[in-house]
Amino acid sequence: MKIIFGFIFLSFIIKNFDCDCKQLEGYFKRYYGNNFNQKDKINQFKCAIGCLKKETCKMAIVNDKNCSIQHEIFSINTIEMDYILLKIIKNSLKLDSNFTIKMDLDNQSSGVLSLAVLKNGDLASGSQDSTIKIWNLENGSLKMTLINHSFPVWSLAVLQNGDLVSGSEDSTIKIWNLENGSLKMNLINHSFPVWSLAVLQNGDLVSGSGDSTIKIWNLENGSVKMTLNNHSGAVRSLAVLQNGDLVSGSQDSTIKIWNLENGSVKMTLNNHSSSIWSLTVLKNGDLASASSDSTIKIWNLENRNVKMTLNNHSSIVRSLALLQNGNLASGSNDASIKIWS
Ligand SMILES: *[C@@H]1O[C@H](CO)[C@@H](O)[C@H](O)[C@H]1NC(C)=O
Ligand SMILES: *[C@@H]1O[C@H](CO)[C@@H](O)[C@H](O)[C@H]1NC(C)=O
Ligand SMILES: *[C@@H]1O[C@H](CO)[C@@H](O)[C@H](O)[C@H]1NC(C)=O
Ligand SMILES: *[C@@H]1O[C@H](CO)[C@@H](O)[C@H](O)[C@H]1NC(C)=O
Ligand SMILES: *[C@@H]1O[C@H](CO)[C@@H](O)[C@H](O)[C@H]1NC(C)=O
Ligand SMILES: *[C@@H]1O[C@H](CO)[C@@H](O)[C@H](O)[C@H]1NC(C)=O
Ligand SMILES: *[C@@H]1O[C@H](CO)[C@@H](O)[C@H](O)[C@H]1NC(C)=O
Ligand SMILES: *[C@@H]1O[C@H](CO)[C@@H](O)[C@H](O)[C@H]1NC(C)=O
Ligand SMILES: *[C@@H]1O[C@H](CO)[C@@H](O)[C@H](O)[C@H]1NC(C)=O
Ligand SMILES: *[C@@H]1O[C@H](CO)[C@@H](O)[C@H](O)[C@H]1NC(C)=O
Ligand SMILES: *[C@@H]1O[C@H](CO)[C@@H](O)[C@H](O)[C@H]1NC(C)=O
Ligand SMILES: *[C@@H]1O[C@H](CO)[C@@H](O)[C@H](O)[C@H]1NC(C)=O
Repeated sequence: MKIIFGFIFLSFIIKNFDCDCKQLEGYFKRYYGNNFNQKDKINQFKCAIGCLKKETCKMAIVNDKNCSIQHEIFSINTIEMDYILLKIIKNSLKLDSNFTIKMDLDNQSSGVLSLAVLKNGDLASGSQDSTIKIWNLENGSLKMTLINHSFPVWSLAVLQNGDLVSGSEDSTIKIWNLENGSLKMNLINHSFPVWSLAVLQNGDLVSGSGDSTIKIWNLENGSVKMTLNNHSGAVRSLAVLQNGDLVSGSQDSTIKIWNLENGSVKMTLNNHSSSIWSLTVLKNGDLASASSDSTIKIWNLENRNVKMTLNNHSSIVRSLALLQNGNLASGSNDASIKIWS
C-alpha cells in the first residue's frame, strides 16, 4: 500500500499572456462542451497562467509530464492555492503513522494513478505512461504489462468475473484478458477522460467521466445501457452503497445518489465547498467523501446531514480507502497518508 499518489508543487515563471481573465470560466466551459484541439488547450493554459499571475483567478491544475502541455486543463473552484502543477512523482510521501514500506513496486517508471487488487491477489497499477502493470505481491515481480491505452490510466476496477477494467484519459474503457494480456473489449462512448469506475451489485460496469456523465454499460455487446446526466462537472469518483445504490462525486462539489430504474437523482449531498475526489463506503454503511476543500466528510444518508468533518489534511484530499480493520486511509496533496479510526 505504498504509493497512492505523490505530488510535487511547482510554480514556474511564464511570461504574461494577453487574455481576458473574466472570460476564463467561459473558456473552461467551452472546453468541456466542445472538442478542443491541442492548440486551443495550450492557449487556454497560457491564459490561465496569465490570469493567475494577475491574481484574478484561483487555480489551474494541469497534468503534464514536464512542463510541455499535454493533456487536460481544469478550472477548479478552490480557495487554498494560487496555482499548482500536478505531477506524479515517486517516493514523495510521508506516512502519518507507524507504517513501514514493505515493498517498492514500479520504482523505475512514471507515476502510479490507480490501483486495484485482482481476485488472485495480484496488484494492478494504472500508470501515467498509459500502461497497466500486474504485480505479484509475494515477491514484487512484474507479471505483465498491458498496453493499448494512448493516455494515462486513471481508474481501474475488477468485474465480478475477475476481469480487469481500465479507464483512461484517452476517453476509452478497456477490458483485459489477463491470460495473455490481450484486449477483450473496448468501450467507447465518453467524450472526455474516464476518471472513475465502479461495479454495481448486479455486476454492471459504471463509469464517470470528464464529460460530466455517468454511463452504465452492457458488457454483452459493449453498448451503453444508461447515461446519468445531472452533474455539471467531471465525475471523479463512484461508489456503491450497501443497499446497492450508486453514488457519484464530482468536480461540481456535489455528491449524488442515483435511482437506476429511471436514471433520476435520488439525493444530492451538498456541503463540500470544492471538488469531490474520492468516495468510500465505511463498514457501518456510512459514506465518506474527500474533497479539494481539504476535508473528509462522513454523511448521514437518512437526512443528508454531515455527521462528521475530518479536518486534518492541509491540502486537497485525493484518495480514500477502507482498510480491512475498518479504519479509513486518506491520501492528500499535503503528501501525507492519514489513517482514521
Ligand atoms: C519533456 O519530455 C520530452 C519527452 O519525454 C523530452 O523530449 C523533452 O526534452 C522534455 N522537455 C523538458 C523541458 O524537459
Ligand atoms: C506508534 O507506535 C508507538 C509504539 O507502539 C505508539 O506509542 C504510538 O502511539 C504510535 N503512533 C501512531 C501515530 O500510531
Ligand atoms: C528499485 O527497486 C529495486 C529493487 O527493490 C532496487 O534495487 C533499486 O535500487 C530501486 N531503484 C530506485 C531508483 O529506487
Ligand atoms: C515470484 O513468484 C512467482 C510465483 O510465486 C514466480 O513464478 C516468479 O519467478 C517469482 N519471481 C521472482 C523474481 O522471484
Ligand atoms: C489496441 O488494440 C487494438 C485491437 O486489438 C489494436 O487494433 C490497436 O492497434 C491497439 N492499439 C494500441 C495503441 O496498442
Ligand atoms: C488470448 O486468450 C483469449 C482466451 O483465452 C483468446 O481468445 C485470444 O485470442 C488470445 N489472444 C492472443 C493475442 O493470443
Ligand atoms: C453513445 O451511445 C449513444 C447511445 O447508444 C449513441 O447514440 C451515441 O452516438 C454514442 N456516442 C459516441 C460518441 O459513441
Ligand atoms: C446490446 O444488447 C442489449 C441487450 O442484450 C440490446 O438491448 C441492445 O440493443 C444491444 N445493442 C447493440 C448496439 O447491439
Ligand atoms: C439536475 O436535476 C435537477 C432536478 O431535476 C435540475 O433542476 C437541474 O437543472 C439538473 N442539473 C443538471 C446540471 O443537469
Ligand atoms: C424515478 O423513479 C422514482 C421511484 O421509482 C420516482 O420517485 C421518480 O419520480 C422517477 N423519476 C422520473 C424522472 O421518472
Ligand atoms: C455545511 O454545513 C454546515 C453546518 O450545517 C454549514 O454551516 C455550512 O455552511 C455548510 N457548508 C456548505 C459549503 O454548504
Ligand atoms: C492534525 O492532527 C495532529 C495530531 O492530532 C495535530 O498535531 C495537527 O496540528 C493537526 N493538523 C491540522 C492541520 O489540523
